Amino acid sequence: MNQPHSPVFDVLIIGSGAAGLSLALRLPPGVSVGLVSKRELEEGNTLYAQGGISAVLGTHDSIDSHVQDTLDAGGGLCDEATVRMVVEHGPGNIGWLFDEGVEFTRSPPTGDSGYHLTREGGHSRRRVVHADDATGRAVETTLVRRLDSHPNVSVLEHHIAVDLVCGEQNEERRCHGAYLLNIASGRVVSVVARCVVLATGGASKVYLYTSNPDVATGDGIAMAWRAGCRVGNMEFIQFHPTCLYHPAAKSFLISEAVRGEGGKLLLPDGSRFMDRFDERAELAPRDIVARAIDHEMKRLGIECVYLDISHKHANEIERLFPTIHQQCLELGFDMRTQPLPVVPAAHYTCGGVSTDHTARTDLNGLYAIGETAYTGLHGANRMASNSLLECLVFSELALTDILDELARTDPPSVDIAPWDESRVTDSDEEVVVSHNWEELRRFMWDYVGIVRSNKRLERARRRADLLRHEIEEYYGNFRVSNDLLELRNLVDVAGLIIISAQRRRESRGLHYNIDFPDRDDNQAAPTVLIPDNYVPRRPPG
Ligand code: FAD
Ligand code: SIN
Repeated sequence: MNQPHSPVFDVLIIGSGAAGLSLALRLPPGVSVGLVSKRELEEGNTLYAQGGISAVLGTHDSIDSHVQDTLDAGGGLCDEATVRMVVEHGPGNIGWLFDEGVEFTRSPPTGDSGYHLTREGGHSRRRVVHADDATGRAVETTLVRRLDSHPNVSVLEHHIAVDLVCGEQNEERRCHGAYLLNIASGRVVSVVARCVVLATGGASKVYLYTSNPDVATGDGIAMAWRAGCRVGNMEFIQFHPTCLYHPAAKSFLISEAVRGEGGKLLLPDGSRFMDRFDERAELAPRDIVARAIDHEMKRLGIECVYLDISHKHANEIERLFPTIHQQCLELGFDMRTQPLPVVPAAHYTCGGVSTDHTARTDLNGLYAIGETAYTGLHGANRMASNSLLECLVFSELALTDILDELARTDPPSVDIAPWDESRVTDSDEEVVVSHNWEELRRFMWDYVGIVRSNKRLERARRRADLLRHEIEEYYGNFRVSNDLLELRNLVDVAGLIIISAQRRRESRGLHYNIDFPDRDDNQAAPTVLIPDNYVPRRPPG
């Protein structure tokens, strides 16, 4: 029997970025959907995406070329079948967004698709469709508006998923729903669903400096891991080379499209340096550019480098980068006339919950899509603008399997135990949460950042273990809060990143360890971590 107050849905989607929203909108009207978001619906990485979405949109480009660029950027660790599948589904998904009402930039020079295409690091052609320099805002706000005409979707804003609810059904382990904390009331409710989809985004808040908003705390990865799912490639954290260096900017991103349109990286004396590191100079893939900047900053003891596009006509800069230009002006920098101070910051989680080609995880009834998933697309380094593409394509692929799953399975008749608060009290030491949050993010930045070493990783591991014990104890004794839940997830994810980084005894893509500075082709395989409670799925049929 369900609890009297347990809402029941066909599909529970946790997360309302590009991945979660696109799936919610694609599910047919007869399917009841719960769409959960821990803040307002719009808040998440998608809202802040700037550069655009990569897709082959013209005769100047080809599927093979997009596939090859993605494989090259991925440092030998991409799953080629996944890459090809995603790239092939790209144009159709841009068409879907267009049909939903997203207005992409059409100013010249347009390709034969009619869209203006920009270029970013790693791409050998112009293939990034965009809405000025605020593509994510256009996608997110348009899709949120479209929910109005989908009455089958019930929205639960300001609810944070605490953990997945799993159990046995037909002698198999299955996900039956989730516990959600209503942040305003402080009450935890259980929600039952035939399919649960994690679309919870990335984990870059585990680092002190990040381009990500506060919600990016890796909740989906941590929940899936605790529920018995494998996670892959967590050592590959992408640092975006160019975030604005300004105390009030909270790591505001300066899009890679600025370099795509001719922006140059400079040292304080005005000299260029990227051509010393890679023949593609400023348009080398991100891992190379971020590491080069880090190297120069440490070599010269400087706090930032500079990104200069002031050689371009002022009107052109205003037209191509209206949001970035405006934001910089507000902070006292005029990119039309002066170089911008920039530093790298944690930006994207390439690894995540292991999924197959239909977004299924290791648990029956549980799917993962978007940045929270590890699909094999990005390998050791994600190419720019391939992430929104992955969100959209995997929501489309998940849709087909979810509809099959709904046809295959009976409506749930499970008994979810109510949330037990009988042994907890209100915390009298909130400072423990804020202190540990700060400490975790700082040692992850210092010891598990752009350049790692065996000693730094070992140090980080000891600290993470200590914090995990402290936080688990706190979690067991006190009533849960949003901050405590996020911290608990961050420390779990930090542990997964550190262990994965220690397992990889080479340098490849985004993972650089000074004790193993070279790439070792005997280690050209993903890092897959298996939790103690992992049970392999039975093959279908
Ligand atoms: P998100 O958009 O991050 O959404 C996650 C959702 O999950 C949010 O609604 C959040 O509230 C919710 N959530 C999380 N945990 C919980 C929980 N426990 N309970 C309930 N809800 C929860 N990629 C590109 O391809 N092109 C770009 O130009 C680009 N630019 C970027 C610029 C910036 C500044 C940043 C930060 C990223 C950029 N990226 C870009 C990366 C891309 O934006 C993200 O990878 C992508 O948007 C992720 O979408 P998502 O739907 O997986 O997650
Ligand atoms: C950017 O605009 O530089 C971000 C693009 C991305 O992360 O894919």
